[in-house]
Amino acid sequence: MNKQLLQWSDSQYCDLPWRKNRTLYTTLVSEIMLQQTSVTTVKKHFDRFLKKFPNISSLAKASEEEVMLAWQGLGYYRRARNLKKAAETIHKDYKGEFPKKFEELIQIPGIGHYTANALIAIGRNEKAIALDANLERVFARFYGIQEEKGPKLQKKLYQLFEEGKIAKEIKTLGARSLNEALMDLGRVFCQAKKAECLICPLQKKCIATKTKNPLSYPLTNQKIKESYELKLIRVLVKKGNSILGLKRKEGEWLSGQIELPTFIYSSEDSTLNQYPKWKKKINLDQLPSIKTGITKYKIQNYVLNLTSQELKKVFSENKNLKFYNIKSEDTHFSTTTLKILDRIEI
Ligand code: ADE
Repeated sequence: MNKQLLQWSDSQYCDLPWRKNRTLYTTLVSEIMLQQTSVTTVKKHFDRFLKKFPNISSLAKASEEEVMLAWQGLGYYRRARNLKKAAETIHKDYKGEFPKKFEELIQIPGIGHYTANALIAIGRNEKAIALDANLERVFARFYGIQEEKGPKLQKKLYQLFEEGKIAKEIKTLGARSLNEALMDLGRVFCQAKKAECLICPLQKKCIATKTKNPLSYPLTNQKIKESYELKLIRVLVKKGNSILGLKRKEGEWLSGQIELPTFIYSSEDSTLNQYPKWKKKINLDQLPSIKTGITKYKIQNYVLNLTSQELKKVFSENKNLKFYNIKSEDTHFSTTTLKILDRIEI
Protein backbone atom coordinates (compact mmCIF):
# COMPACT_ATOMS: atom_id res chain seq x y z
CA MET A 1 0.00 0.00 0.00
CA ASN A 2 1.64 3.24 -1.03
CA LYS A 3 1.29 6.80 -2.25
CA GLN A 4 1.67 5.86 -5.91
CA LEU A 5 -1.54 3.86 -5.61
CA LEU A 6 -3.41 6.91 -4.36
CA GLN A 7 -1.87 9.17 -6.97
CA TRP A 8 -2.86 6.80 -9.75
CA SER A 9 -6.44 6.48 -8.45
CA ASP A 10 -6.82 10.21 -7.94
CA SER A 11 -5.45 11.06 -11.37
CA GLN A 12 -7.83 8.67 -13.11
CA TYR A 13 -10.99 8.58 -11.06
CA CYS A 14 -11.41 11.75 -9.00
CA ASP A 15 -14.20 12.75 -11.38
CA LEU A 16 -16.54 9.91 -10.49
CA PRO A 17 -19.76 11.77 -9.59
CA TRP A 18 -20.04 10.31 -6.07
CA ARG A 19 -16.52 11.47 -5.28
CA LYS A 20 -17.56 15.12 -5.61
CA ASN A 21 -19.57 16.97 -2.94
CA ARG A 22 -19.58 14.00 -0.66
CA THR A 23 -21.94 13.59 2.25
CA LEU A 24 -22.94 10.53 4.22
CA TYR A 25 -26.18 10.54 2.25
CA THR A 26 -24.48 10.55 -1.17
CA THR A 27 -22.15 7.83 0.09
CA LEU A 28 -25.08 5.70 1.18
CA VAL A 29 -26.72 6.09 -2.22
CA SER A 30 -23.57 5.40 -4.25
CA GLU A 31 -22.39 2.48 -2.14
CA ILE A 32 -25.75 0.75 -2.41
CA MET A 33 -25.86 1.41 -6.15
CA LEU A 34 -22.31 0.09 -6.61
CA GLN A 35 -22.96 -3.17 -4.81
CA GLN A 36 -24.10 -5.13 -7.84
CA THR A 37 -23.72 -2.64 -10.63
CA SER A 38 -20.67 -1.49 -12.53
CA VAL A 39 -19.05 1.90 -12.09
CA THR A 40 -19.91 2.74 -15.72
CA THR A 41 -23.63 2.12 -15.17
CA VAL A 42 -23.78 3.90 -11.80
CA LYS A 43 -22.03 6.88 -13.37
CA LYS A 44 -24.94 7.24 -15.80
CA HIS A 45 -27.65 7.20 -13.13
CA PHE A 46 -26.19 8.70 -9.98
CA ASP A 47 -26.66 12.43 -10.70
CA ARG A 48 -30.20 11.97 -11.95
CA PHE A 49 -31.18 10.03 -8.83
CA LEU A 50 -29.67 12.69 -6.58
CA LYS A 51 -31.44 15.46 -8.43
CA LYS A 52 -34.71 13.73 -7.74
CA PHE A 53 -33.83 12.89 -4.12
CA PRO A 54 -31.21 15.43 -3.02
CA ASN A 55 -31.26 14.53 0.68
CA ILE A 56 -32.29 11.91 3.14
CA SER A 57 -35.66 13.46 3.93
CA SER A 58 -36.71 13.69 0.28
CA LEU A 59 -35.95 10.01 -0.15
CA ALA A 60 -37.63 9.06 3.11
CA LYS A 61 -40.80 10.91 2.18
CA ALA A 62 -41.02 9.71 -1.43
CA SER A 63 -43.39 6.94 -2.44
CA GLU A 64 -41.99 3.53 -3.24
CA GLU A 65 -43.13 3.91 -6.87
CA GLU A 66 -41.18 7.14 -7.27
CA VAL A 67 -38.03 5.53 -5.93
CA MET A 68 -38.42 2.46 -8.15
CA LEU A 69 -38.89 4.67 -11.15
CA ALA A 70 -35.73 6.64 -10.40
CA TRP A 71 -33.88 3.34 -9.92
CA GLN A 72 -34.61 2.23 -13.48
CA GLY A 73 -31.50 1.08 -15.29
CA LEU A 74 -29.71 0.00 -12.11
CA GLY A 75 -31.45 -3.35 -11.64
CA TYR A 76 -31.66 -5.43 -8.45
CA TYR A 77 -34.58 -3.42 -7.10
CA ARG A 78 -34.30 -4.95 -3.65
CA ARG A 79 -31.41 -2.54 -3.11
CA ALA A 80 -33.69 0.42 -3.87
CA ARG A 81 -36.12 -0.81 -1.22
CA ASN A 82 -33.24 -1.22 1.23
CA LEU A 83 -32.00 2.26 0.48
CA LYS A 84 -35.46 3.69 1.07
CA LYS A 85 -35.87 1.75 4.33
CA ALA A 86 -32.51 3.04 5.58
CA ALA A 87 -33.45 6.61 4.65
CA GLU A 88 -36.80 6.33 6.48
CA THR A 89 -35.15 5.03 9.67
CA ILE A 90 -32.39 7.64 9.68
CA HIS A 91 -34.96 10.37 9.01
CA LYS A 92 -37.41 9.20 11.67
CA ASP A 93 -35.33 7.59 14.41
CA TYR A 94 -32.12 9.61 14.10
CA LYS A 95 -33.56 12.99 13.03
CA GLY A 96 -31.76 12.72 9.72
CA GLU A 97 -28.30 12.39 11.32
CA PHE A 98 -26.33 9.25 10.49
CA PRO A 99 -25.21 7.44 13.64
CA LYS A 100 -21.45 7.30 14.05
CA LYS A 101 -20.73 3.80 15.25
CA PHE A 102 -20.63 0.59 13.27
CA GLU A 103 -22.83 -1.16 15.86
CA GLU A 104 -25.52 1.48 15.44
CA LEU A 105 -25.32 1.65 11.66
CA ILE A 106 -25.71 -2.07 11.28
CA GLN A 107 -28.99 -1.93 13.26
CA ILE A 108 -30.60 0.20 10.58
CA PRO A 109 -32.78 -1.84 8.23
CA GLY A 110 -31.22 -1.83 4.77
CA ILE A 111 -27.66 -1.22 6.01
CA GLY A 112 -25.50 -4.33 6.07
CA HIS A 113 -21.95 -5.06 7.11
CA TYR A 114 -20.42 -3.74 3.90
CA THR A 115 -22.48 -0.54 3.75
CA ALA A 116 -21.81 0.25 7.43
CA ASN A 117 -18.08 -0.05 6.84
CA ALA A 118 -18.28 1.97 3.64
CA LEU A 119 -20.12 4.77 5.48
CA ILE A 120 -17.36 4.89 8.09
CA ALA A 121 -14.38 4.53 5.75
CA ILE A 122 -15.57 6.39 2.68
CA GLY A 123 -18.31 8.62 4.08
CA ARG A 124 -16.61 9.67 7.31
CA ASN A 125 -13.01 8.99 6.29
CA GLU A 126 -12.46 7.06 9.50
CA LYS A 127 -10.57 3.83 10.05
CA ALA A 128 -12.42 0.90 8.44
CA ILE A 129 -12.23 -1.32 5.40
CA ALA A 130 -15.22 -1.88 3.14
CA LEU A 131 -14.57 -5.37 1.87
CA ASP A 132 -16.31 -5.71 -1.44
CA ALA A 133 -15.22 -8.39 -3.92
CA ASN A 134 -12.50 -6.11 -5.30
CA LEU A 135 -10.91 -5.39 -1.94
CA GLU A 136 -11.17 -9.00 -0.90
CA ARG A 137 -9.27 -10.07 -4.01
CA VAL A 138 -6.65 -7.32 -3.82
CA PHE A 139 -5.90 -8.06 -0.15
CA ALA A 140 -5.76 -11.83 -0.70
CA ARG A 141 -3.24 -11.31 -3.51
CA PHE A 142 -1.16 -8.54 -1.98
CA TYR A 143 -0.71 -10.35 1.34
CA GLY A 144 -0.77 -13.87 -0.16
CA ILE A 145 -3.61 -15.03 2.09
CA GLN A 146 -4.46 -18.68 1.63
CA GLU A 147 -8.08 -18.68 2.67
CA GLU A 148 -11.17 -19.65 0.77
CA LYS A 149 -12.88 -16.76 -0.99
CA GLY A 150 -16.12 -15.55 0.62
CA PRO A 151 -17.14 -15.35 4.27
CA LYS A 152 -14.05 -17.21 5.57
CA LEU A 153 -11.64 -14.90 3.79
CA GLN A 154 -13.63 -11.82 4.78
CA LYS A 155 -13.62 -12.84 8.43
CA LYS A 156 -9.90 -13.40 8.30
CA LEU A 157 -9.26 -10.05 6.60
CA TYR A 158 -11.36 -8.13 9.12
CA GLN A 159 -9.52 -9.89 11.92
CA LEU A 160 -6.09 -9.14 10.42
CA PHE A 161 -7.16 -5.52 9.95
CA GLU A 162 -8.30 -5.26 13.58
CA GLU A 163 -4.95 -6.66 14.68
CA GLY A 164 -3.14 -4.06 12.59
CA LYS A 165 -1.59 -6.71 10.35
CA ILE A 166 -2.99 -5.53 7.03
CA ALA A 167 -3.62 -2.08 5.55
CA LYS A 168 -1.59 -0.47 8.32
CA GLU A 169 -0.96 2.45 5.97
CA ILE A 170 -4.59 3.51 6.38
CA LYS A 171 -3.39 5.89 9.12
CA THR A 172 -1.12 7.84 6.84
CA LEU A 173 -2.91 7.39 3.52
CA GLY A 174 -6.42 8.00 4.84
CA ALA A 175 -9.34 5.59 4.99
CA ARG A 176 -11.35 7.09 2.18
CA SER A 177 -8.48 7.39 -0.28
CA LEU A 178 -7.10 3.96 0.47
CA ASN A 179 -10.43 2.14 0.25
CA GLU A 180 -11.38 3.81 -2.99
CA ALA A 181 -7.95 3.43 -4.56
CA LEU A 182 -8.02 -0.30 -3.76
CA MET A 183 -11.47 -0.58 -5.30
CA ASP A 184 -10.15 1.12 -8.43
CA LEU A 185 -7.15 -1.17 -8.48
CA GLY A 186 -9.35 -4.26 -8.20
CA ARG A 187 -11.57 -3.03 -11.00
CA VAL A 188 -8.77 -2.00 -13.36
CA PHE A 189 -5.47 -3.88 -12.83
CA CYS A 190 -6.27 -6.65 -10.40
CA GLN A 191 -9.33 -8.29 -11.92
CA ALA A 192 -10.57 -11.76 -11.04
CA LYS A 193 -9.49 -13.25 -14.36
CA LYS A 194 -6.82 -10.79 -15.45
CA ALA A 195 -3.98 -9.30 -13.43
CA GLU A 196 -1.83 -6.62 -15.01
CA CYS A 197 0.96 -6.84 -12.47
CA LEU A 198 3.60 -5.15 -14.62
CA ILE A 199 1.81 -1.83 -14.53
CA CYS A 200 0.28 -2.16 -11.07
CA PRO A 201 1.40 0.41 -8.47
CA LEU A 202 1.45 -2.31 -5.79
CA GLN A 203 3.55 -4.75 -7.78
CA LYS A 204 6.77 -4.46 -5.75
CA LYS A 205 5.39 -5.80 -2.50
CA CYS A 206 2.63 -8.03 -3.81
CA ILE A 207 3.01 -11.68 -2.79
CA ALA A 208 0.71 -13.09 -5.46
CA THR A 209 2.68 -11.57 -8.30
CA LYS A 210 5.85 -13.17 -6.93
CA THR A 211 4.25 -16.62 -7.14
CA LYS A 212 3.95 -16.02 -10.90
CA ASN A 213 0.32 -16.98 -10.71
CA PRO A 214 -1.58 -14.10 -9.16
CA LEU A 215 -4.89 -15.42 -10.44
CA SER A 216 -4.69 -18.36 -8.07
CA TYR A 217 -5.62 -15.94 -5.26
CA PRO A 218 -8.05 -15.81 -3.63
CA LEU A 219 -8.49 -19.55 -3.29
CA THR A 220 -11.81 -20.83 -4.50
CA ASN A 221 -13.61 -23.97 -3.54
CA GLN A 222 -12.29 -25.93 -6.47
CA LYS A 223 -8.72 -24.78 -5.86
CA ILE A 224 -8.74 -26.22 -2.35
CA LYS A 225 -8.20 -29.82 -3.28
CA GLU A 226 -7.11 -32.83 -1.33
CA SER A 227 -4.52 -33.84 -3.87
CA TYR A 228 -2.94 -32.45 -6.99
CA GLU A 229 -1.65 -34.24 -10.06
CA LEU A 230 1.78 -33.08 -10.97
CA LYS A 231 3.90 -34.05 -13.97
CA LEU A 232 7.59 -33.33 -13.62
CA ILE A 233 10.44 -33.72 -16.04
CA ARG A 234 13.62 -34.92 -14.32
CA VAL A 235 16.70 -34.43 -16.40
CA LEU A 236 19.50 -36.94 -16.29
CA VAL A 237 22.92 -35.70 -17.38
CA LYS A 238 25.54 -38.41 -16.98
CA LYS A 239 29.30 -38.34 -16.88
CA GLY A 240 30.80 -41.71 -15.98
CA ASN A 241 29.54 -42.52 -12.49
CA SER A 242 28.33 -38.99 -11.89
CA ILE A 243 25.11 -37.14 -12.58
CA LEU A 244 24.28 -33.47 -12.56
CA GLY A 245 22.36 -32.51 -9.45
CA LEU A 246 21.07 -29.46 -7.65
CA LYS A 247 21.11 -28.91 -3.90
CA ARG A 248 17.75 -27.62 -2.71
CA LYS A 249 18.01 -24.35 -0.85
CA GLU A 250 16.62 -23.55 2.56
CA GLY A 251 12.92 -22.85 2.46
CA GLU A 252 12.39 -25.06 -0.58
CA TRP A 253 10.98 -28.55 -0.58
CA LEU A 254 13.63 -31.11 0.40
CA SER A 255 16.06 -28.44 1.51
CA GLY A 256 19.65 -29.71 1.63
CA GLN A 257 18.91 -32.69 -0.61
CA ILE A 258 20.21 -33.28 -4.11
CA GLU A 259 17.67 -33.47 -6.90
CA LEU A 260 17.99 -33.87 -10.63
CA PRO A 261 17.40 -30.69 -12.61
CA THR A 262 13.61 -30.61 -12.61
CA PHE A 263 10.87 -28.90 -14.58
CA ILE A 264 7.12 -28.69 -14.17
CA TYR A 265 5.44 -30.13 -17.23
CA SER A 266 1.94 -29.65 -15.81
CA SER A 267 0.46 -29.04 -12.40
CA GLU A 268 -3.08 -28.94 -11.04
CA ASP A 269 -1.78 -26.63 -8.34
CA SER A 270 -1.10 -23.40 -10.15
CA THR A 271 0.62 -21.85 -7.10
CA LEU A 272 3.45 -24.36 -7.15
CA ASN A 273 6.68 -22.63 -8.07
CA GLN A 274 9.44 -24.86 -6.74
CA TYR A 275 10.56 -25.74 -10.26
CA PRO A 276 10.66 -23.81 -13.52
CA LYS A 277 8.12 -24.63 -16.19
CA TRP A 278 9.12 -26.79 -19.15
CA LYS A 279 8.69 -24.58 -22.21
CA LYS A 280 9.57 -26.80 -25.18
CA LYS A 281 7.50 -29.34 -27.07
CA ILE A 282 8.03 -32.85 -25.78
CA ASN A 283 6.36 -36.22 -26.12
CA LEU A 284 6.20 -37.67 -22.60
CA ASP A 285 4.91 -41.05 -23.74
CA GLN A 286 8.35 -42.07 -24.92
CA LEU A 287 10.09 -41.30 -21.65
CA PRO A 288 10.56 -43.75 -18.79
CA SER A 289 8.59 -42.64 -15.77
CA ILE A 290 8.01 -43.40 -12.10
CA LYS A 291 5.34 -42.39 -9.62
CA THR A 292 6.13 -40.68 -6.34
CA GLY A 293 4.25 -38.54 -3.85
CA ILE A 294 5.07 -35.68 -1.56
CA THR A 295 2.53 -34.11 0.80
CA LYS A 296 -0.58 -33.47 -1.28
CA TYR A 297 1.06 -33.99 -4.66
CA LYS A 298 0.74 -37.13 -6.77
CA ILE A 299 3.75 -36.96 -9.00
CA GLN A 300 4.54 -38.63 -12.27
CA ASN A 301 8.27 -38.17 -12.91
CA TYR A 302 9.41 -38.40 -16.52
CA VAL A 303 13.12 -38.97 -16.98
CA LEU A 304 14.79 -37.17 -19.83
CA ASN A 305 18.39 -37.82 -20.88
CA LEU A 306 20.21 -34.70 -22.00
CA THR A 307 23.79 -33.55 -22.46
CA SER A 308 25.11 -30.66 -20.36
CA GLN A 309 24.95 -28.42 -23.40
CA GLU A 310 21.34 -29.28 -24.09
CA LEU A 311 20.41 -28.68 -20.46
CA LYS A 312 22.13 -25.32 -20.37
CA LYS A 313 19.86 -24.06 -23.12
CA VAL A 314 16.70 -24.70 -21.12
CA PHE A 315 17.71 -24.36 -17.47
CA SER A 316 18.42 -20.94 -16.00
CA GLU A 317 19.48 -22.27 -12.58
CA ASN A 318 22.46 -24.03 -14.13
CA LYS A 319 25.07 -22.15 -12.10
CA ASN A 320 23.97 -24.16 -9.05
CA LEU A 321 24.43 -27.48 -10.81
CA LYS A 322 27.21 -29.86 -9.84
CA PHE A 323 28.24 -33.38 -10.73
CA TYR A 324 27.64 -35.86 -7.91
CA ASN A 325 29.03 -39.34 -7.81
CA ILE A 326 26.13 -41.78 -7.62
CA LYS A 327 28.19 -44.33 -5.74
CA SER A 328 29.05 -41.87 -2.96
CA GLU A 329 27.50 -42.79 0.37
CA ASP A 330 27.77 -39.22 1.73
CA THR A 331 25.71 -37.48 -0.89
CA HIS A 332 22.17 -36.83 0.27
CA PHE A 333 20.17 -37.60 -2.86
CA SER A 334 16.42 -37.15 -2.54
CA THR A 335 14.33 -40.32 -2.38
CA THR A 336 12.94 -39.65 -5.84
CA THR A 337 16.43 -39.23 -7.25
CA LEU A 338 17.47 -42.53 -5.69
CA LYS A 339 14.39 -44.23 -7.09
CA ILE A 340 15.14 -42.90 -10.53
CA LEU A 341 18.77 -44.00 -10.32
CA ASP A 342 17.65 -47.38 -9.09
CA ARG A 343 14.95 -48.03 -11.65
CA ILE A 344 16.26 -46.35 -14.73
CA GLU A 345 19.27 -47.91 -16.29
CA ILE A 346 22.16 -45.54 -16.43
N1 ADE B 1 -17.22 0.11 -5.58
C1 ADE B 1 -17.84 0.23 -4.40
N2 ADE B 1 -17.67 1.46 -3.91
C2 ADE B 1 -16.93 2.14 -4.79
C3 ADE B 1 -16.40 3.43 -4.84
N3 ADE B 1 -16.66 4.28 -3.87
N4 ADE B 1 -15.64 3.76 -5.91
C4 ADE B 1 -15.43 2.87 -6.87
N5 ADE B 1 -15.88 1.65 -6.88
C5 ADE B 1 -16.62 1.26 -5.85
